Amino acid sequence: MPKKNALPTTLPRERAFLVGVEIRGEEGLLPLEESLDELALLSATAGLNVVGEATQRLQSRNPKTLIGKGKLEEVQALVEETRAEVLVFDDELSPRYQRELEEVFTDKVRVLDRTALILDIFAQHASTHEGSLQVELAQYEYRLPRLTRAWTHLARQAGGGGGRTGNGGVGLRGPGEKQLEVDRRDIRRRIDQLKGELEKVRAHRGRYREKRKRARIPVVALVGYTNAGKSTLLNRIAGADVHTADQLFATLDPTTRRVELTGGRVALFTDTVGFIQKLPTALVAAFRATLEEIAEAELLLHVIDSTHPSALAQSEAVLETLADLDAEHIPILTVLNKIDRFENPDEQAQAQSDYPDAIPASALTGAGMDGLLAAVHRKLYEAFTPVSVHLPFQEGALIALFHEYGQVEKVEHTRRGVRMEGRLPGRLLARFAPFDANRMPLALEAEEEE
Ligand code: GTP
Repeated sequence: MPKKNALPTTLPRERAFLVGVEIRGEEGLLPLEESLDELALLSATAGLNVVGEATQRLQSRNPKTLIGKGKLEEVQALVEETRAEVLVFDDELSPRYQRELEEVFTDKVRVLDRTALILDIFAQHASTHEGSLQVELAQYEYRLPRLTRAWTHLARQAGGGGGRTGNGGVGLRGPGEKQLEVDRRDIRRRIDQLKGELEKVRAHRGRYREKRKRARIPVVALVGYTNAGKSTLLNRIAGADVHTADQLFATLDPTTRRVELTGGRVALFTDTVGFIQKLPTALVAAFRATLEEIAEAELLLHVIDSTHPSALAQSEAVLETLADLDAEHIPILTVLNKIDRFENPDEQAQAQSDYPDAIPASALTGAGMDGLLAAVHRKLYEAFTPVSVHLPFQEGALIALFHEYGQVEKVEHTRRGVRMEGRLPGRLLARFAPFDANRMPLALEAEEEE
């Protein structure tokens, strides 16, 4: 159910027509048709009823309407024929395209894009205070430059006036420039208010994280493409009651559980929001704080739905998002999930050959769980990786940590700190990564050269 603050873009069971475009030289990770299949799944998750679709491959965008003139006429005819009420584009529409297309389709058909859909789904699934604030902020920032007739009823709701119109926004025709200005001002005010509230929540989260760091329990973050099975896996290994569903983005807010590893040691496992290709930049920015949970982890468990036809492209999208989040330095353990679905051993062998170091598992049946927990233990506690770091004096705690848990091979005092070489267990690698001597922090480097 949508939360109090959620701003629904779509109404349940509206008839939706999908449009996918591929521009030569800008092909995405997924082929056009597969990306459109994913959009259909997103639409269903958002509660829409998909009644048709069209695709076009283009040399370049039509500067006015994105798709070509002929294709536009074809889509108009199909929209009429299928009695579609919503037109969903697979790519983010610039405010300009949005306006032009709304002109073409008038008030009868609302024009949306993938980003609006994802924001809508996120809004429905946010369950914590912080999650709701983040989505609402992302929605307003996305909508502000796109505020046209189709959106103004939402602005009015946001301004506190009245409930849902129940007509998907098509009932309020041509509010005029003056009304639009009022709506824009209301939205800006709400954006400021949301930012203030988020600041407070984040300060609290920061204090909690500090406490957890002091406790020295390693954090393992589950990452993966949406629907890969992260929540099911967390439930399986932690006996946690995390919501799982065969829909996209069932998990929005991080859930953390304490898990006993093989060997008696413990780790905190945290579930995270699923990734998706073309993840709207507004959302990555809005969720940076939640996703920082990932950047703070000692180990990432990359869960892959190994039976998905686009498993490779999906895992690539995950790795790209991790790079965007500056989480590349964290060790990764790959889990080939859903192996129970393979009908013959050859299929599994094929999947395994794509990811030679991955652990095969089934979160559903529990197969492979012992191997997985043992591998996590090995990565965190048993395997030692060679490192060379340059630690400034103020990082005295890290210097002590290296001596206590690492195998120190060389120590050299510099004017600003200590260079240390040796080996560190996996759980400490991420913490020392910022001081990697090969990627020395710029400030320190400049001081060295003085
Ligand atoms: P998001 O919240 O979208 O990020 O999804 P998630 O990665 O948390 O996936 P979730 O655990 O919700 O699982 C998605 C679907 O896959 C559910 O229908 C699960 O029952 C199913 N599933 C998860 N693991 C397995 C598995 O090992 N085998 C099979 N057959 N199905 C699985």
